[in-house]
Amino acid sequence: MARRFSTVVFVVMVVAALVQSSKAETHEVGGTMKWTVPSSGAVAYQNWAAGETFLTGDVLEFEFTTGAHDVAKVTKAAFDACNGTNPISHKTTGPANFTLDTSGEHYYICTVGSHCSLGQKLAVNVSAARAETEFIVGDSLGWTVPSGGAATYQNWAKNKTFVVGDSLKFNFTTGAHDVAKVTKTAFDACNGTNPISHETTGPADIDLDTAGEHYFICTVGSHCSLGQKLAINVTASSSTTPATPPSSSTTPPSTTTPTSPSPSGGPSQSPSGSTTPPSPGSAPSFAVAGLSATLLSVAAALLY
Ligand SMILES: *[C@@H]1O[C@H](CO)[C@@H](O)[C@H](O)[C@H]1NC(C)=O
Ligand SMILES: *[C@@H]1O[C@H](CO)[C@@H](O)[C@H](O)[C@H]1NC(C)=O
Ligand SMILES: *[C@@H]1O[C@H](CO)[C@@H](O)[C@H](O)[C@H]1NC(C)=O
Ligand SMILES: *[C@@H]1O[C@H](CO)[C@@H](O)[C@H](O)[C@H]1NC(C)=O
Ligand SMILES: *[C@@H]1O[C@H](CO)[C@@H](O)[C@H](O)[C@H]1NC(C)=O
Ligand SMILES: *[C@@H]1O[C@H](CO)[C@@H](O)[C@H](O)[C@H]1NC(C)=O
Ligand SMILES: *[C@@H]1O[C@H](CO)[C@@H](O)[C@H](O)[C@H]1NC(C)=O
Repeated sequence: MARRFSTVVFVVMVVAALVQSSKAETHEVGGTMKWTVPSSGAVAYQNWAAGETFLTGDVLEFEFTTGAHDVAKVTKAAFDACNGTNPISHKTTGPANFTLDTSGEHYYICTVGSHCSLGQKLAVNVSAARAETEFIVGDSLGWTVPSGGAATYQNWAKNKTFVVGDSLKFNFTTGAHDVAKVTKTAFDACNGTNPISHETTGPADIDLDTAGEHYFICTVGSHCSLGQKLAINVTASSSTTPATPPSSSTTPPSTTTPTSPSPSGGPSQSPSGSTTPPSPGSAPSFAVAGLSATLLSVAAALLY
Protein backbone atom coordinates (compact mmCIF):
# COMPACT_ATOMS: atom_id res chain seq x y z
CA MET A 1 0.00 0.00 0.00
CA ALA A 2 2.77 2.37 0.92
CA ARG A 3 4.59 1.51 -2.25
CA ARG A 4 1.48 2.01 -4.36
CA PHE A 5 0.88 5.37 -2.72
CA SER A 6 4.41 6.55 -3.38
CA THR A 7 4.11 5.36 -6.97
CA VAL A 8 0.97 7.45 -7.35
CA VAL A 9 2.74 10.44 -5.82
CA PHE A 10 5.63 9.93 -8.19
CA VAL A 11 3.28 9.78 -11.19
CA VAL A 12 1.63 12.99 -10.01
CA MET A 13 5.02 14.66 -9.74
CA VAL A 14 5.96 13.54 -13.24
CA VAL A 15 2.66 14.80 -14.60
CA ALA A 16 3.17 18.07 -12.76
CA ALA A 17 6.66 18.37 -14.22
CA LEU A 18 5.21 17.89 -17.69
CA VAL A 19 2.67 20.63 -17.19
CA GLN A 20 4.71 23.63 -18.16
CA SER A 21 3.02 26.09 -20.37
CA SER A 22 -0.52 26.39 -21.54
CA LYS A 23 0.39 27.65 -24.98
CA ALA A 24 -1.97 25.59 -27.11
CA GLU A 25 -0.19 23.11 -29.28
CA THR A 26 -1.30 21.22 -32.37
CA HIS A 27 -0.44 17.54 -32.34
CA GLU A 28 -0.30 15.96 -35.78
CA VAL A 29 -1.65 12.54 -34.95
CA GLY A 30 0.76 9.73 -35.78
CA GLY A 31 3.52 12.04 -36.96
CA THR A 32 4.71 10.95 -40.41
CA MET A 33 2.43 7.90 -40.19
CA LYS A 34 -0.59 10.25 -40.09
CA TRP A 35 -4.04 8.71 -39.49
CA THR A 36 -4.20 5.33 -41.19
CA VAL A 37 -4.21 1.60 -40.51
CA PRO A 38 -0.79 1.12 -38.93
CA SER A 39 1.21 -1.89 -40.06
CA SER A 40 2.23 -2.58 -36.46
CA GLY A 41 -1.28 -2.40 -34.99
CA ALA A 42 -2.59 -0.09 -32.29
CA VAL A 43 0.76 0.01 -30.50
CA ALA A 44 1.82 2.47 -33.21
CA TYR A 45 -0.53 5.16 -31.90
CA GLN A 46 0.23 4.28 -28.28
CA ASN A 47 3.90 4.82 -28.95
CA TRP A 48 3.19 8.06 -30.71
CA ALA A 49 0.98 9.31 -27.85
CA ALA A 50 3.59 8.29 -25.27
CA GLY A 51 6.00 10.79 -26.78
CA GLU A 52 3.59 13.72 -26.55
CA THR A 53 2.28 15.85 -23.71
CA PHE A 54 -1.38 16.69 -24.11
CA LEU A 55 -2.72 19.75 -22.34
CA THR A 56 -6.20 21.21 -22.33
CA GLY A 57 -6.58 23.63 -25.23
CA ASP A 58 -4.29 21.60 -27.49
CA VAL A 59 -5.56 20.39 -30.84
CA LEU A 60 -5.34 16.92 -32.36
CA GLU A 61 -5.00 17.13 -36.13
CA PHE A 62 -5.94 13.90 -37.90
CA GLU A 63 -4.62 13.86 -41.44
CA PHE A 64 -6.29 11.38 -43.78
CA THR A 65 -7.81 11.11 -47.23
CA THR A 66 -11.51 11.88 -47.11
CA GLY A 67 -13.45 8.72 -47.86
CA ALA A 68 -10.63 6.36 -46.98
CA HIS A 69 -10.84 7.00 -43.23
CA ASP A 70 -12.75 9.00 -40.65
CA VAL A 71 -12.40 9.96 -36.98
CA ALA A 72 -14.95 9.24 -34.28
CA LYS A 73 -14.52 10.42 -30.72
CA VAL A 74 -15.90 7.61 -28.58
CA THR A 75 -16.22 6.38 -25.00
CA LYS A 76 -13.68 4.03 -23.47
CA ALA A 77 -16.10 1.14 -23.85
CA ALA A 78 -16.61 1.89 -27.55
CA PHE A 79 -12.86 2.33 -27.98
CA ASP A 80 -12.13 -1.02 -26.39
CA ALA A 81 -14.82 -2.73 -28.48
CA CYS A 82 -14.07 -0.75 -31.67
CA ASN A 83 -17.75 0.18 -31.71
CA GLY A 84 -18.43 3.22 -33.89
CA THR A 85 -22.22 3.03 -33.64
CA ASN A 86 -22.88 5.91 -31.30
CA PRO A 87 -19.84 8.20 -31.31
CA ILE A 88 -19.57 11.33 -29.17
CA SER A 89 -18.61 13.18 -32.34
CA HIS A 90 -17.68 12.14 -35.84
CA LYS A 91 -15.67 13.82 -38.58
CA THR A 92 -15.53 12.39 -42.08
CA THR A 93 -13.50 15.08 -43.87
CA GLY A 94 -9.72 15.05 -43.68
CA PRO A 95 -7.82 16.69 -42.17
CA ALA A 96 -9.96 16.86 -39.04
CA ASN A 97 -9.18 18.80 -35.89
CA PHE A 98 -10.34 17.94 -32.40
CA THR A 99 -9.71 20.39 -29.57
CA LEU A 100 -8.81 18.77 -26.27
CA ASP A 101 -11.16 20.90 -24.22
CA THR A 102 -11.27 18.80 -21.07
CA SER A 103 -8.67 16.99 -19.03
CA GLY A 104 -8.78 13.23 -18.69
CA GLU A 105 -8.91 10.48 -21.24
CA HIS A 106 -10.06 10.98 -24.81
CA TYR A 107 -10.62 8.13 -27.27
CA TYR A 108 -10.66 8.18 -31.06
CA ILE A 109 -11.23 5.43 -33.60
CA CYS A 110 -11.66 5.08 -37.34
CA THR A 111 -15.11 3.62 -38.06
CA VAL A 112 -14.30 2.50 -41.62
CA GLY A 113 -14.29 -1.29 -42.13
CA SER A 114 -12.14 -3.08 -39.59
CA HIS A 115 -9.60 -0.25 -39.40
CA CYS A 116 -10.09 0.17 -35.67
CA SER A 117 -9.53 -3.51 -34.86
CA LEU A 118 -6.46 -3.34 -37.07
CA GLY A 119 -5.08 -0.61 -34.84
CA GLN A 120 -6.41 2.70 -36.16
CA LYS A 121 -7.35 3.89 -32.69
CA LEU A 122 -5.91 6.50 -30.38
CA ALA A 123 -6.25 7.10 -26.65
CA VAL A 124 -4.79 10.25 -25.11
CA ASN A 125 -4.65 11.37 -21.51
CA VAL A 126 -5.01 15.13 -21.25
CA SER A 127 -3.65 17.15 -18.32
CA ALA A 128 -5.09 20.44 -17.22
CA ALA A 129 -2.92 23.26 -18.49
CA ARG A 130 -1.58 25.57 -15.86
CA ALA A 131 -2.97 29.08 -15.98
CA GLU A 132 -0.35 31.53 -17.16
CA THR A 133 0.39 34.47 -14.95
CA GLU A 134 1.11 37.94 -16.23
CA PHE A 135 3.20 39.88 -13.73
CA ILE A 136 3.13 43.67 -13.77
CA VAL A 137 6.70 44.56 -12.95
CA GLY A 138 6.73 46.68 -9.80
CA ASP A 139 2.94 46.44 -9.58
CA SER A 140 1.48 49.94 -9.22
CA LEU A 141 4.93 51.52 -9.30
CA GLY A 142 5.34 50.34 -12.89
CA TRP A 143 8.74 50.34 -14.62
CA THR A 144 10.51 53.52 -13.57
CA VAL A 145 13.46 54.85 -11.58
CA PRO A 146 12.56 53.66 -8.09
CA SER A 147 13.20 56.00 -5.18
CA GLY A 148 14.31 52.98 -3.17
CA GLY A 149 17.08 52.01 -5.57
CA ALA A 150 17.70 48.57 -7.04
CA ALA A 151 16.36 46.86 -3.91
CA THR A 152 12.88 47.91 -5.02
CA TYR A 153 12.62 45.50 -7.96
CA GLN A 154 14.56 42.79 -6.15
CA ASN A 155 12.03 42.93 -3.33
CA TRP A 156 9.20 42.90 -5.82
CA ALA A 157 10.60 39.73 -7.42
CA LYS A 158 11.67 38.09 -4.16
CA ASN A 159 8.47 36.32 -3.22
CA LYS A 160 7.34 35.38 -6.68
CA THR A 161 7.58 32.15 -8.58
CA PHE A 162 8.12 32.70 -12.28
CA VAL A 163 7.37 29.71 -14.47
CA VAL A 164 8.05 29.22 -18.16
CA GLY A 165 4.94 30.42 -19.98
CA ASP A 166 4.36 33.35 -17.64
CA SER A 167 4.96 36.89 -18.88
CA LEU A 168 6.17 40.22 -17.57
CA LYS A 169 4.50 43.51 -18.33
CA PHE A 170 6.88 46.46 -18.07
CA ASN A 171 4.56 49.44 -17.71
CA PHE A 172 6.37 52.60 -18.76
CA THR A 173 5.79 55.71 -20.83
CA THR A 174 7.29 55.39 -24.30
CA GLY A 175 10.28 57.71 -24.60
CA ALA A 176 10.81 58.07 -20.87
CA HIS A 177 12.10 54.52 -20.37
CA ASP A 178 12.78 51.30 -22.22
CA VAL A 179 13.51 47.70 -21.29
CA ALA A 180 16.47 45.68 -22.47
CA LYS A 181 16.99 42.02 -21.78
CA VAL A 182 20.70 41.60 -21.06
CA THR A 183 23.32 39.17 -19.81
CA LYS A 184 24.26 38.97 -16.15
CA THR A 185 27.52 40.82 -16.89
CA ALA A 186 25.68 43.64 -18.64
CA PHE A 187 23.12 43.70 -15.82
CA ASP A 188 25.80 44.04 -13.16
CA ALA A 189 27.59 46.75 -15.17
CA CYS A 190 24.37 48.48 -16.31
CA ASN A 191 25.69 48.12 -19.85
CA GLY A 192 22.93 48.44 -22.46
CA THR A 193 25.24 48.42 -25.48
CA ASN A 194 24.51 44.96 -26.81
CA PRO A 195 21.20 43.77 -25.35
CA ILE A 196 19.69 40.36 -26.06
CA SER A 197 16.46 42.15 -26.90
CA HIS A 198 15.22 45.69 -26.56
CA GLU A 199 11.70 47.11 -26.23
CA THR A 200 11.24 50.84 -26.57
CA THR A 201 7.44 51.04 -26.64
CA GLY A 202 5.59 50.93 -23.35
CA PRO A 203 3.96 49.00 -21.92
CA ALA A 204 6.10 46.10 -23.11
CA ASP A 205 5.08 42.47 -22.67
CA ILE A 206 7.87 39.94 -22.44
CA ASP A 207 7.17 36.21 -22.48
CA LEU A 208 9.27 34.07 -20.18
CA ASP A 209 10.06 31.36 -22.71
CA THR A 210 13.05 29.76 -21.10
CA ALA A 211 14.01 28.62 -17.63
CA GLY A 212 16.91 30.17 -15.76
CA GLU A 213 17.95 33.67 -14.83
CA HIS A 214 16.65 36.61 -16.82
CA TYR A 215 18.03 40.13 -16.52
CA PHE A 216 16.34 43.38 -17.52
CA ILE A 217 17.54 46.96 -17.37
CA CYS A 218 16.43 50.38 -18.58
CA THR A 219 19.06 51.77 -20.96
CA VAL A 220 17.89 55.39 -20.71
CA GLY A 221 20.38 57.76 -19.03
CA SER A 222 21.60 56.46 -15.69
CA HIS A 223 18.26 54.81 -14.85
CA CYS A 224 19.83 51.39 -14.45
CA SER A 225 22.49 52.55 -12.00
CA LEU A 226 19.72 54.32 -10.09
CA GLY A 227 17.96 50.99 -9.67
CA GLN A 228 15.77 50.45 -12.72
CA LYS A 229 16.89 46.87 -13.15
CA LEU A 230 15.28 43.51 -12.53
CA ALA A 231 16.71 40.01 -12.17
CA ILE A 232 14.40 37.02 -11.97
CA ASN A 233 14.77 33.28 -11.88
CA VAL A 234 12.34 31.33 -14.05
CA THR A 235 11.57 27.71 -13.25
CA ALA A 236 10.88 25.14 -15.90
CA SER A 237 7.86 23.54 -14.36
CA SER A 238 4.99 24.24 -12.05
CA SER A 239 5.95 21.42 -9.68
CA THR A 240 7.27 23.89 -7.13
CA THR A 241 4.61 26.51 -7.78
CA PRO A 242 2.30 27.32 -4.90
CA ALA A 243 -1.30 26.30 -5.55
CA THR A 244 -2.34 29.94 -5.70
CA PRO A 245 -0.39 32.52 -7.69
CA PRO A 246 1.32 35.32 -5.78
CA SER A 247 -1.25 37.76 -4.46
CA SER A 248 0.54 40.70 -6.03
CA SER A 249 0.10 39.37 -9.52
CA THR A 250 -2.68 40.83 -11.62
CA THR A 251 -4.20 37.53 -12.57
CA PRO A 252 -6.98 36.81 -10.11
CA PRO A 253 -5.78 33.99 -7.88
CA SER A 254 -7.33 30.78 -9.04
CA THR A 255 -8.70 29.20 -5.94
CA THR A 256 -9.56 26.00 -7.70
CA THR A 257 -6.57 23.97 -8.69
CA PRO A 258 -7.36 22.26 -11.96
CA THR A 259 -7.96 18.59 -11.44
CA SER A 260 -8.10 15.83 -13.93
CA PRO A 261 -11.27 13.82 -13.76
CA SER A 262 -10.54 10.15 -13.49
CA PRO A 263 -13.25 8.31 -15.36
CA SER A 264 -11.90 5.00 -14.15
CA GLY A 265 -12.68 6.00 -10.59
CA GLY A 266 -9.04 6.53 -9.78
CA PRO A 267 -7.69 9.06 -7.29
CA SER A 268 -8.32 12.67 -8.14
CA GLN A 269 -5.09 14.47 -8.66
CA SER A 270 -3.95 17.95 -9.48
CA PRO A 271 -0.98 19.06 -11.55
CA SER A 272 0.29 21.19 -8.69
CA GLY A 273 1.28 18.08 -6.85
CA SER A 274 -1.46 17.55 -4.31
CA THR A 275 -3.20 14.25 -4.26
CA THR A 276 -5.93 12.53 -2.41
CA PRO A 277 -4.99 9.14 -1.03
CA PRO A 278 -5.92 6.45 -3.51
CA SER A 279 -8.25 3.65 -2.63
CA PRO A 280 -6.55 0.27 -2.97
CA GLY A 281 -6.25 -0.98 -6.51
CA SER A 282 -7.61 2.19 -8.01
CA ALA A 283 -4.64 3.29 -10.08
CA PRO A 284 -4.95 1.47 -13.37
CA SER A 285 -2.14 1.74 -15.83
CA PHE A 286 -3.31 3.42 -18.97
CA ALA A 287 -0.52 1.85 -20.98
CA VAL A 288 -1.33 -1.62 -19.73
CA ALA A 289 -5.06 -1.13 -20.35
CA GLY A 290 -4.33 0.12 -23.85
CA LEU A 291 -1.92 -2.71 -24.52
CA SER A 292 -4.39 -5.39 -23.53
CA ALA A 293 -6.97 -3.69 -25.75
CA THR A 294 -4.46 -3.94 -28.55
CA LEU A 295 -3.76 -7.58 -27.89
CA LEU A 296 -7.49 -8.25 -27.84
CA SER A 297 -8.03 -6.44 -31.11
CA VAL A 298 -5.07 -8.16 -32.72
CA ALA A 299 -6.41 -11.49 -31.51
CA ALA A 300 -9.85 -10.56 -32.84
CA ALA A 301 -8.34 -9.59 -36.17
CA LEU A 302 -6.53 -12.92 -36.40
CA LEU A 303 -9.65 -14.91 -35.54
CA TYR A 304 -11.88 -13.32 -38.17
C1 LIG B 1 -22.26 -0.59 -30.00
O1 LIG B 1 -22.71 0.45 -29.14
C2 LIG B 1 -24.12 0.64 -29.18
C3 LIG B 1 -24.47 1.79 -28.26
O2 LIG B 1 -23.56 2.81 -28.35
C4 LIG B 1 -24.84 -0.60 -28.77
O3 LIG B 1 -26.24 -0.40 -28.88
C5 LIG B 1 -24.42 -1.76 -29.61
O4 LIG B 1 -25.00 -2.95 -29.11
C6 LIG B 1 -22.91 -1.90 -29.61
N1 LIG B 1 -22.52 -2.95 -30.55
C7 LIG B 1 -21.75 -3.96 -30.18
C8 LIG B 1 -21.42 -4.94 -31.27
O5 LIG B 1 -21.33 -4.10 -29.04
C1 LIG C 1 -6.36 22.35 -37.85
O1 LIG C 1 -5.48 23.04 -36.99
C2 LIG C 1 -4.31 23.51 -37.65
C3 LIG C 1 -3.39 24.10 -36.62
O2 LIG C 1 -4.10 24.77 -35.61
C4 LIG C 1 -4.72 24.54 -38.69
O3 LIG C 1 -3.56 25.00 -39.36
C5 LIG C 1 -5.65 23.88 -39.67
O4 LIG C 1 -6.11 24.84 -40.58
C6 LIG C 1 -6.84 23.26 -38.96
N1 LIG C 1 -7.59 22.49 -39.90
C7 LIG C 1 -8.91 22.50 -39.92
C8 LIG C 1 -9.56 21.62 -40.93
O5 LIG C 1 -9.57 23.18 -39.14
C1 LIG D 1 6.82 36.64 1.35
O1 LIG D 1 5.63 35.84 1.58
C2 LIG D 1 5.49 35.46 2.91
C3 LIG D 1 4.29 34.53 2.99
O2 LIG D 1 3.39 34.73 1.95
C4 LIG D 1 5.31 36.71 3.77
O3 LIG D 1 5.16 36.34 5.13
C5 LIG D 1 6.52 37.60 3.61
O4 LIG D 1 6.34 38.80 4.33
C6 LIG D 1 6.75 37.92 2.16
N1 LIG D 1 7.99 38.67 2.03
C7 LIG D 1 8.10 39.73 1.25
C8 LIG D 1 9.43 40.37 1.17
O5 LIG D 1 7.15 40.18 0.63
C1 LIG E 1 0.37 51.59 -16.34
O1 LIG E 1 0.70 52.85 -15.82
C2 LIG E 1 -0.31 53.82 -16.01
C3 LIG E 1 0.21 55.16 -15.55
O2 LIG E 1 0.92 55.00 -14.37
C4 LIG E 1 -1.56 53.41 -15.27
O3 LIG E 1 -2.60 54.34 -15.47
C5 LIG E 1 -2.00 52.05 -15.79
O4 LIG E 1 -3.11 51.61 -15.05
C6 LIG E 1 -0.87 51.07 -15.67
N1 LIG E 1 -1.27 49.84 -16.32
C7 LIG E 1 -1.24 48.67 -15.68
C8 LIG E 1 -1.64 47.49 -16.49
O5 LIG E 1 -0.89 48.57 -14.52
C1 LIG F 1 29.46 47.07 -22.82
O1 LIG F 1 29.31 45.81 -23.48
C2 LIG F 1 29.93 45.77 -24.76
C3 LIG F 1 29.69 44.40 -25.35
O2 LIG F 1 28.40 43.94 -25.13
C4 LIG F 1 31.40 46.01 -24.65
O3 LIG F 1 31.97 46.05 -25.96
C5 LIG F 1 31.65 47.34 -23.95
O4 LIG F 1 33.05 47.48 -23.74
C6 LIG F 1 30.93 47.38 -22.62
N1 LIG F 1 31.07 48.72 -22.01
C7 LIG F 1 31.53 48.89 -20.79
C8 LIG F 1 31.59 50.32 -20.32
O5 LIG F 1 31.85 47.94 -20.09
C1 LIG G 1 17.90 30.07 -10.10
O1 LIG G 1 17.38 28.76 -9.85
C2 LIG G 1 18.36 27.74 -10.01
C3 LIG G 1 17.66 26.42 -9.85
O2 LIG G 1 16.63 26.48 -8.92
C4 LIG G 1 19.46 27.95 -8.96
O3 LIG G 1 20.44 26.97 -9.14
C5 LIG G 1 20.07 29.34 -9.16
O4 LIG G 1 21.00 29.57 -8.14
C6 LIG G 1 19.01 30.40 -9.10
N1 LIG G 1 19.58 31.68 -9.40
C7 LIG G 1 19.35 32.77 -8.67
C8 LIG G 1 19.99 34.02 -9.12
O5 LIG G 1 18.63 32.74 -7.67
C1 LIG H 1 -4.63 10.08 -16.84
O1 LIG H 1 -3.80 11.01 -16.15
C2 LIG H 1 -4.25 11.28 -14.83
C3 LIG H 1 -3.31 12.28 -14.22
O2 LIG H 1 -3.24 13.41 -15.01
C4 LIG H 1 -4.26 10.02 -14.01
O3 LIG H 1 -4.80 10.30 -12.74
C5 LIG H 1 -5.10 8.96 -14.68
O4 LIG H 1 -4.99 7.76 -13.97
C6 LIG H 1 -4.64 8.77 -16.10
N1 LIG H 1 -5.51 7.80 -16.73
C7 LIG H 1 -5.14 6.56 -16.89
C8 LIG H 1 -6.18 5.66 -17.47
O5 LIG H 1 -4.02 6.16 -16.62
